[in-house]
Amino acid sequence: MATIRDVAKLAAVSVATVSRVLNNNGYVNKETKEKVQQAIQLLQYEPNTMAKGLAGKKTETLALVLPDISNPFFSEVARAVEDVAQLYGYTVVLCNTDSDTDKEQTYIQVMKRRYVDGMLFASNTLRAADVLMLNKANIPLVVLDRAPANVPCLVVRSKNNEGAKLAIRHLLDTGCRRIAHIYGPQETATGKERLIGYEEAVRSFPWYSPTLMEPGQFSIQGGMAAAEKLMERHPDIDGIFAGNDLMALGALKKLQQLGIPVPGRVSLIGFDGIELTRITEPELSTIAQPIYEIGATATRLLIKKIEGVQLENETYECEVELMARGSTRGNAEAGR
Ligand code: RIB
Repeated sequence: MATIRDVAKLAAVSVATVSRVLNNNGYVNKETKEKVQQAIQLLQYEPNTMAKGLAGKKTETLALVLPDISNPFFSEVARAVEDVAQLYGYTVVLCNTDSDTDKEQTYIQVMKRRYVDGMLFASNTLRAADVLMLNKANIPLVVLDRAPANVPCLVVRSKNNEGAKLAIRHLLDTGCRRIAHIYGPQETATGKERLIGYEEAVRSFPWYSPTLMEPGQFSIQGGMAAAEKLMERHPDIDGIFAGNDLMALGALKKLQQLGIPVPGRVSLIGFDGIELTRITEPELSTIAQPIYEIGATATRLLIKKIEGVQLENETYECEVELMARGSTRGNAEAGR
């Protein structure tokens, strides 16, 4: 692979002159600039972004660290991040951690060495020590969606607690009188806040019991298993709130396998607002997060930090929206 020195030799100029042409800074006369550009083309020279990083220059690269790229929620986030990054001339390196702390630590170290200009995390394992290390290394970061507690950084996420209460209120409004909750991993801020929202909304009812809650690991399989256990334990359940849409989709599948009509006998609502909720029969009611807005806002804030704007470490909480559709009683006929 040609180096900057090969280009300088072929164009019979100094390395410094080639660098000025590459970075478009400092004076280079027209004839010399053309010689250098011809040499770059002839040698197919690619500037080494790491070298630029080592020289303290911007690499125009962002790292996006996600816990589960197979979940449509995160692929929709990644879509927004790339759209906004591209608008401002940045490329995105995608890192999938499977919520594994060791994998995340490896990515942090690799991205730090590759001199990315900034990092976006959707993480429940990011530690305050990581944030302090990245701040010390002058690598700006923004956390989106699921932020661990007590991490000193900018955060963009949804109003999870309010969203859970909105889901319960909708189930109650449509006639449900014994509501269960399939919850996400409690090590995630999102799973935890939605469970708290559910408990705050139902614990005053005489029918409430902690046995109305079952974990579902934010997955389709987890939703299926949880729905089966809940219906065995409490056959009189007439409403289920799942802490994300994949678990709700699993619950829908299991209820239909058990011959339990949705919403005829059990109403069902999820959380996220991913496109898959529109292709089931009945269509799945859900609490929609502004997924694209979360990814886009986090990216714009990160680029502002990279470009020197001083921002406070505040948390941006986005509004969520009830999407009432066929899986909740009272809307089946409406098909909304
Ligand atoms: O579906 C994945 C879940 O993990 C979403 O609810 C999102 O908020 C993330 O925390």
